[in-house]
Amino acid sequence: MNFLEERIVKDGIVKEGNVLKVDSFLNHQMDIELFDQIGAEFKKRFADKNINKILTIEASGIGIACIVAKHFHVPVVFAKKTQSINLEGEMYVAEVESFTHKCKNQVIVAKKFLSEEDHVLIIDDFLANGCALQGLIQLVTEAGATVEGIGIVIEKGFQSGGRIIRNLGYPLESLAIVEAMDSETGEITFREQ
Ligand code: G4P
Ligand code: NA
Ligand code: NA
Repeated sequence: MNFLEERIVKDGIVKEGNVLKVDSFLNHQMDIELFDQIGAEFKKRFADKNINKILTIEASGIGIACIVAKHFHVPVVFAKKTQSINLEGEMYVAEVESFTHKCKNQVIVAKKFLSEEDHVLIIDDFLANGCALQGLIQLVTEAGATVEGIGIVIEKGFQSGGRIIRNLGYPLESLAIVEAMDSETGEITFREQ
């Protein structure tokens, strides 16, 4: 097990419905020393890439992306989620369907913060069905920028997002891939990487 898998086993809580709660260290209370290790690990995994910008999505991606950015010495842009509204043309807009909330949202980034010169590392905390991630990829593509890599902290390997994104050819690195979880025993199985 790597450092993150060990932490998930120690402090993660398996809830019914295949939900993994990690709010004591990842997405409510945040362990910044752990985030720093996460940043160092992504820097190692994407060492051969020329990355000049990190893109994430509000809310819980932001904290992680900021610490990761310290390792790449680049700025962070976070996409905003909004209910469908009329946007003036200053924004790139992607439609994102939420399985959990059963609604359609837009994710937006101001055009001035993403352009064809950008080589982007996308960072997020969770990858499940991958709808949010596909929205981010769409924003980068719309801007004519390049997706150099995608770094995910926890992938739920039994949901389809990871497979879809890898099949599209994107370099996707997940620091922990959960293959199965049991809410009765609390047991968590990780994919060997
Ligand atoms: P997806 O298609 O984009 O992968 O997302 P999905 O609708 O499956 O999940 C909706 C939200 O729930 C996402 O956060 C996602 O990160 C989060 N999520 C999915 N599975 C788990 C889980 O097992 N544990 C935890 N803690 N979160 C999970 P969000 O609502 O888009 O963003 P945020 O505002 O929380 O950052
Ligand atoms: Na979340
Ligand atoms: Na997120």
